[in-house]
Amino acid sequence: MKGLILSGGKGTRLRPFTYTGAKQLVPVANKPVLFYAIEDLVEAGIRDIGIVIGDTGDQIRAAVGDGSRLNAQVTYIPQEAPLGLAHGVKIARGFIGAESFVLFLGDNFIRDGIVSEVRHFAERALNCQIMLHRVEHPENLGVAVLDGDRVVRLVEKPREFISNLALVGIYMFDPHIFEAIEQIKPSPRGELEITDAIQQLLDMGYRVGHQIVKGHWIDTGKVSDMLDANRLVLETIETLIEGAVDGGSKVIGGAIIEAGAQVIDSVIRGPVIIGANTRIERAFVGPFTAIGHDCLITHAEIENSIVMENSQIKNVRDRISDSLIGRFVEVSQSPPVPKTLRLMLGDHSQVGVL
Ligand code: TTP
Repeated sequence: MKGLILSGGKGTRLRPFTYTGAKQLVPVANKPVLFYAIEDLVEAGIRDIGIVIGDTGDQIRAAVGDGSRLNAQVTYIPQEAPLGLAHGVKIARGFIGAESFVLFLGDNFIRDGIVSEVRHFAERALNCQIMLHRVEHPENLGVAVLDGDRVVRLVEKPREFISNLALVGIYMFDPHIFEAIEQIKPSPRGELEITDAIQQLLDMGYRVGHQIVKGHWIDTGKVSDMLDANRLVLETIETLIEGAVDGGSKVIGGAIIEAGAQVIDSVIRGPVIIGANTRIERAFVGPFTAIGHDCLITHAEIENSIVMENSQIKNVRDRISDSLIGRFVEVSQSPPVPKTLRLMLGDHSQVGVL
């Protein structure tokens, strides 16, 4: 079996980050969300992985390389424009050949991996297997309608309620999917939809199975989703302190403090990860926060946030919370002081808070 990860796309929901960077490289507990997808495939025994890339392809190549660091062998497949998930599959036909494959959307995060789902697909000799997750708000997602245990219909972003079983962005196919994609036309938004292709498989009489995912699944398209994924991973960390924590500091709860990091006169309340060579001075870094490498947090308080590498937060009196802060950002404060700060800053932003 092969793996195919879609890492092109527009990423409109994560602007301004996606003006400068690939959304699949936004870090979750200091590791790009895309790496979790690769690790999930490798854990399920799939090492031959194609990655579809778009405008941000150079960044993805620089981060993943040939995949050997993650125990995978990666082939890049450039997509000329984000013409839809099924289009991403269509252009990978040469790479997939006659094998079955797992299609994994590069911004999807699943806490418990895909080992049992891949086994289920292989054992049942299905043509396709979808993964479903019960959600409260299915209106912005693709959903599946079941009749008993049978998948009967798929609908992309249903206007009226027909099902609360959302399609997780991880699918398993055999090569019949290429036949189905040949039959479908672009949707009103101009994309070849994977839901239409799977519906076509159903219409052609192929066997489409499903599994309901009980554990956490997050489509990390929005900032709040990134913070949720960050929280989920941080919840599982075990303390590892390789950096220096001085006598005036306190570390409470699970914390990873990487080599070369310095914690001076500060409180770290886990779960927290602090990247290599980052300096935390006279600061509070609160629960569910990931600070990238080579950052500076001084005279500031931050919780439930992601700060990407090479950023600085200095002399901010209000606690920063629920924030996603890009790379090479500077946040500082001058009086008078507002009550709360909620930030969504892209890479290279410079903010002087009044
Ligand atoms: P989406 O999140 O559905 O689309 P998008 O990346 O354009 O984001 P937004 O809705 O915020 O504008 O894409 C899911 C994944 O598939 C994501 O990793 C991007 C990737 N993708 C492609 O590689 N090619 C495509 O043609 C499309 C539509 C998405």
